[in-house]
Amino acid sequence: MIGIACTASDLNRCDRGLDRLAEAVRSGVLTAGGLPLIFPVMSLSEDLMKPTAMLYRNLLAIEVEEAIRSQPLDGIVALGNCDKTVPAYLMALASADIPALVVTGGFRAPATFRGGRLGSGTSLWRYYDARRSGLLSDADWTRLEVCLGRGLGACNTMGTASSMAIVAEALGMMLPGAGVTLAGDLQQLAGAEAAGRRIVAMTADGVRPSGMLTPAAFANAIAALAAVGGSTNAIIHLCAIAGRRAITLPLRQFADVAAAVPVIADISPAGSGLMPDLASAGGLPAVLAEIAPHLDQGALTAAGAPLGELLAGARRQPGGAIRAADDPVTREPAFTVVHGNLAPDGAVIKTAAASPALLRHRGPAIVFRSYQEMRERIDDPALDVTPDSVLVLAGCGPVGAGMPEWGMIPIPRKLLDRGVTDMLRVTDGRMSGTSFGTVVLHVCPESAIGGPLARLMDGDVIRLDAPAGELTVEVGPTAFAARQPALPTPGDMRGWPVLHRQHVTQAPEGCDYDFLQARTPEQLPFVEPVIGRS
Ligand code: FES
Repeated sequence: MIGIACTASDLNRCDRGLDRLAEAVRSGVLTAGGLPLIFPVMSLSEDLMKPTAMLYRNLLAIEVEEAIRSQPLDGIVALGNCDKTVPAYLMALASADIPALVVTGGFRAPATFRGGRLGSGTSLWRYYDARRSGLLSDADWTRLEVCLGRGLGACNTMGTASSMAIVAEALGMMLPGAGVTLAGDLQQLAGAEAAGRRIVAMTADGVRPSGMLTPAAFANAIAALAAVGGSTNAIIHLCAIAGRRAITLPLRQFADVAAAVPVIADISPAGSGLMPDLASAGGLPAVLAEIAPHLDQGALTAAGAPLGELLAGARRQPGGAIRAADDPVTREPAFTVVHGNLAPDGAVIKTAAASPALLRHRGPAIVFRSYQEMRERIDDPALDVTPDSVLVLAGCGPVGAGMPEWGMIPIPRKLLDRGVTDMLRVTDGRMSGTSFGTVVLHVCPESAIGGPLARLMDGDVIRLDAPAGELTVEVGPTAFAARQPALPTPGDMRGWPVLHRQHVTQAPEGCDYDFLQARTPEQLPFVEPVIGRS
């Protein structure tokens, strides 16, 4: 019995169309002699769910894990697409540990606007600033909205959905070549059908996630993420998935791998192309072939063969969106990690999409304690801000607000009008994988539990030295500790947000719930239910 979990929903345009792929999986399962059973699961829509789909990632993971526990399934194919669906699946599959494959719905075809292709998210952020500067009329803005809303599929930049599809493939949880595909392409149907056939074979052979999700596979996935200049959100998700298998991925490992593996995928926001360009240049197999010296080629692919065999036949298209390893898109690493008295447990920065000149920067802080406060003050002509200021948004960590993607704080209007396009920003929240700019993210511990951002004040001098891995505030430890922390007042006193606050871990632990992680060997086995009368 093969379960086919599907997040298709009218509430999530990125996952619309997955029901068609689910039918193709069903066909493959039947062909291979299995019994396919499609079932819907919660759909996590990045653009519609507020405050953030991240608040519900673990809920979907719980739903899928408990569906597997409570139903007599021998294997599962999990269909998702939008940002949080794939990580939620991978977390659940890592815990439930029955034979499993992931199938994604691919990226949407780019629309054109003013003669150029629109990259999901990335183009919007740029045009949003143009709009704020008065460079885009109401009519242009309306037309832009229509263009951005066109088509099914995930964001066509290297956002979190693209990054997580690539991570799933690199982990061996998705058939090779399936992670970078155009939504609606007929090849996708063939791939979904192949996944249906493959899962039956995996079930017969007892191939389980525990055999795929090894430290070597996680190291390969981190290398793949670095090579494609992937989303910083994937760092959190990888930590969460690994935590389900009692594997710890220290932030240091992400920084070390990114320092060694060049960014070779020329895809926005770190590069200039879009996901169709990556597909036509050879997709993930071609990327992995180019960084092969950094990979454990003995790791298994979802097809059953070792990675080395796959790479032997993979080549990048010369002149395409996959650059040679000795001619990277940028000399900066995809991302790096900083520590210091402002982030004792670490923070991350997407260096490949930052301004090199700001990666070493010193300036006075302007502290916003909430998103609402930031929105109210950011364009106030009276805001005491210069291009050297450091914009800080606190209160948006996993406990404080469910960790929304509020980190790419808009450049204040008065600076935008002077041509300023980037500033150093610091937050305990996240930012979209489609975002860019010099933004220090995931500051840990977060301010809502008394982390350093809670004691930061306007005018405090912040120093970032990203190459040295440092983020500090120039206030003496005694004076800093003596300050009263500004802690947010929780809005919700009942319901899911309360459970979330009580159990969510910090970013370096993946923002998983403490009771879902495998912290001890005893917590690793998946316990099947007692079978009796209902
Ligand atoms: Fe769904 Fe980007 S909003 S993939």
